[in-house]
Amino acid sequence: MKTPSTDKKHKTVVVLLHHPVTNRKGETVATSITNMDLHDISRTCRTYEIDHYYLVSPVVDHQELVSKIIDHWKKGSQAEWHPDRAEALSRAKVLSSFQDVKDELKGLYPDLALEVLMPDARPLPNQLSYSEAREKWENEEKSGIKVVVLGTGWGVAPEFYSEVHTYLGPVYGPLGANGYNHLSVRAAAAIILDRLFSSQK
Ligand SMILES: C[S@@+](CC[C@H](N)C(=O)[O-])C[C@H]1O[C@@H](n2cnc3c(N)ncnc32)[C@H](O)[C@@H]1O
Repeated sequence: MKTPSTDKKHKTVVVLLHHPVTNRKGETVATSITNMDLHDISRTCRTYEIDHYYLVSPVVDHQELVSKIIDHWKKGSQAEWHPDRAEALSRAKVLSSFQDVKDELKGLYPDLALEVLMPDARPLPNQLSYSEAREKWENEEKSGIKVVVLGTGWGVAPEFYSEVHTYLGPVYGPLGANGYNHLSVRAAAAIILDRLFSSQK
């Protein structure tokens, strides 16, 4: 069911972390995987030719439930009646930890170096804008894997930051840093992938 990606220079992967993320008190927690995040981000990934969408959760009940939902849409009459949905969900997979994501990618693409990118709603030092990231990728000599990590809850917990190679800047509306800044992760994923991969102006 998986269709081949367009011939991009780098392979891009999307990761949605459900742990380690923070709650409203700043504590590190594991959040629940939502059906909306599963379906909507899978479809966005399919639209932008992303082959792998990993939902990371250490909660075994959630892993089993979400794997069952993915299988439900990928197989049998559901796949026949909803082929576009099956095609989108065929790139979604639940894994227990970010280490598992890295191990899986190493197994699939042993020759490709991995760069972990984390978009953040806050302005941080040394963040790249989306156009800067595009230009940098274009000029890199070697192909690699670009792993775009998104958060749930109140965002990615600080203990994950040591995994990050590159921070990507905030997505702002027309009022810039002074405007409303509370996008859902689904909307953020779509805007970020569009800024990184759209061929349209
Ligand atoms: C903090 S979580 C919120 C999850 C929440 N439960 C929801 O409504 O979807 C949103 C995630 O989307 C991304 N995000 C949200 N707004 C963003 C922005 N303005 N710029 C860059 N990334 C953003 C970040 O990865 C962030 O961790």
